[in-house]
Amino acid sequence: MTTIGRLKKIMNAANNIILIGMMGSGKSTVGKILADSLKFDFVDLDEFIEKNEAMAISDIFAKQGEDYFRKLEFNAAKETIHLQDTVISTGGGIIKNEANIAALKKAGTVFYLSAPANILYRRIKGDSARPLLKTEEEFAKILEERENAYKQADFMIDATKSPEEIAQEIIEIFGRPKPWK
Ligand code: S3P
Repeated sequence: MTTIGRLKKIMNAANNIILIGMMGSGKSTVGKILADSLKFDFVDLDEFIEKNEAMAISDIFAKQGEDYFRKLEFNAAKETIHLQDTVISTGGGIIKNEANIAALKKAGTVFYLSAPANILYRRIKGDSARPLLKTEEEFAKILEERENAYKQADFMIDATKSPEEIAQEIIEIFGRPKPWK
């Protein structure tokens, strides 16, 4: 870690970028572009869980159930407070637990990648790695149920744009002084 990185940590000014949003909103793709551009580390919380459990998300859902996955997700969200200069992409359902939103906001600046259900669904339909992905109607209902929770992010970004454009917009916002941090 650089001297500035260490100083920021001592001052408890968490300097992470956290991406939330529905499946298909581009959190992982945008996250990797951001990390490359800013020379930050990149952590995908779903991958972190898969590595720890040595199991794919779809298998965790099938064998242990969604509630078990949500506990793992809760534990992973709590760990983000220990990160610094990191772009963190999250699973779409992380906001289902209010405590996770609070933990993520403490760990950094939270960006909600937002797009209409039909556009998101078109991007990911048929992906068997996503256990909650069923019909377009069900997908739209999940988004509707989650929308208010997603909007607790510090910033909402139009995720219908290209991943590069989204990353650029986030970099511009992230670079500005934040009065509440
Ligand atoms: C989920 C989204 C997935 C993954 C799990 C549950 C959700 O992540 O965490 O399948 O509840 O929306 P992505 O948003 O990366 O697809």
